[in-house]
Amino acid sequence: MSGKSFDRHIQEILIPTQTIQERIQDAGAQISRIYADKPLLLVGILNGAFVFMADLCRSISIPCETAFMRVRSYSGMSSQGNPVEILMDLEQDISRYHVLIAEDILDTGRTLRAVTEILKERHPLSLRVVTLLDKPSRRAVDFEADMSLFTIADRFVVGYGLDYNGSYRNLPYVAVYTP
Ligand code: IMP
Ligand code: MG
Repeated sequence: MSGKSFDRHIQEILIPTQTIQERIQDAGAQISRIYADKPLLLVGILNGAFVFMADLCRSISIPCETAFMRVRSYSGMSSQGNPVEILMDLEQDISRYHVLIAEDILDTGRTLRAVTEILKERHPLSLRVVTLLDKPSRRAVDFEADMSLFTIADRFVVGYGLDYNGSYRNLPYVAVYTP
């Protein structure tokens, strides 16, 4: 499917479906080697990571459990002084797991830094982060993912789970959103 046939805001496909799938297969193989014989809990951050999680977990060839968290980010600070509020928490006692967080995009870094700080306090056996996309030029806090599948320039992208006002998550590729 060409980008143009979707709607007028989708004119440039940045990362085609096939490229995403190939990169995920490599990441899955790498993750399977790192966590072989370890209790792995893959944690997706809703909503953006649901498409990535679905493909990533199926590219992993070792036993693992999957779970989701939903957080709300604040551009400034919340009333409690936290940059994120947990809207839906994990049910697992993560002290029994090696936790791998899967997120759609690492932008300013505020969300993932806050989420990792929260989860570290629960003493997982280990904690790592994998993101589909990384926009390093936008970083506002000191945070890096352990694995990012694609590094992109400072452009607003949609598709493959990423949204603009709730839309475009269902696009099977990553596209630049053209206002
Ligand atoms: P951070 O806390 O700034 O790193 O925010 C990351 C979150 O911002 C992601 O989970 C996305 O929901 C959102 N975001 C950042 N850049 C984009 C983009 O280009 N398209 C869609 N959502 C984005
Ligand atoms: Mg998100």
